[in-house]
Amino acid sequence: MTKINLFSAVLDCLMCDDLSQKVQLLDKLLFNWSERNFVFEPLNSIMRIADPGRPAKPELVPPKALPRRGIGSPEGHAALMHSIAHIEFNAINLALDAIYRFQAMPYNYYQDWLGVAGEEAYHFQLIREHLDQLGYDYGDFPAHNGLWLTTYETDHDVLVRMAMVPRTLEARGLDVTPAMIKKLRAIGDRRGVEILKILLRDEIGHVAVGTRWYRYVCVQRGLNPFDEFQRLLGLYFHGNIRGPFNYDARREAGFSEQEIEWLRSLEQQTFERVS
Ligand SMILES: [Fe+2]
Repeated sequence: MTKINLFSAVLDCLMCDDLSQKVQLLDKLLFNWSERNFVFEPLNSIMRIADPGRPAKPELVPPKALPRRGIGSPEGHAALMHSIAHIEFNAINLALDAIYRFQAMPYNYYQDWLGVAGEEAYHFQLIREHLDQLGYDYGDFPAHNGLWLTTYETDHDVLVRMAMVPRTLEARGLDVTPAMIKKLRAIGDRRGVEILKILLRDEIGHVAVGTRWYRYVCVQRGLNPFDEFQRLLGLYFHGNIRGPFNYDARREAGFSEQEIEWLRSLEQQTFERVS
């Protein structure tokens, strides 16, 4: 069989804007990976991607324009699930972009990110099915594009990407998921609780993938991973890093004790500001 170029196959999936076709293309990628059908020939040019493949709906709006709904109403409950579906959908594109864009990484880097893309698609489907049970579908609520904006801003350097997307934005998911689980439990959504537990477990692995390759590039460039992380956050993070943090999950995801201590000091400062 003729070998397939991994990067162009990943680009096709990344740009695909049809939900079911995208999932099919991703299944094909995973199959061809397991059959070792790929070659890793860098492409002649790598595009910047302001707008990756996604369905026409949800409508994208600025974060502040999203209505705040309590989870107590059926609509608020569905809106929470929808926002998670949107994150999971975006996460498929984030993982694919990490492959397409950085074409000189080791074999295991591509294996890791393709595995992440597959798990994100699984998460998306779990949430979408649950949303269906609640009487809604992906696209029924507006959503914001924050995750992709940071992805776009960090497309020039794999080190910056690993620091800011998996280790910052996705790591935030580890912090906020336990509170969401509590809320769902309080309204008796047992399936929702079950799904979020699966997501939390898998997301630890995804942040760990980010940490693994962040560290790899630091070693290659002779950088101190702790100092460099602080420097990159200063340059690329909009706003304040805020707690509370999920220290256990972050430890499992490869955050060093030095980083954990630093997060603890930030949480303390946040606490002092509000008290
Ligand atoms: Fe996920």
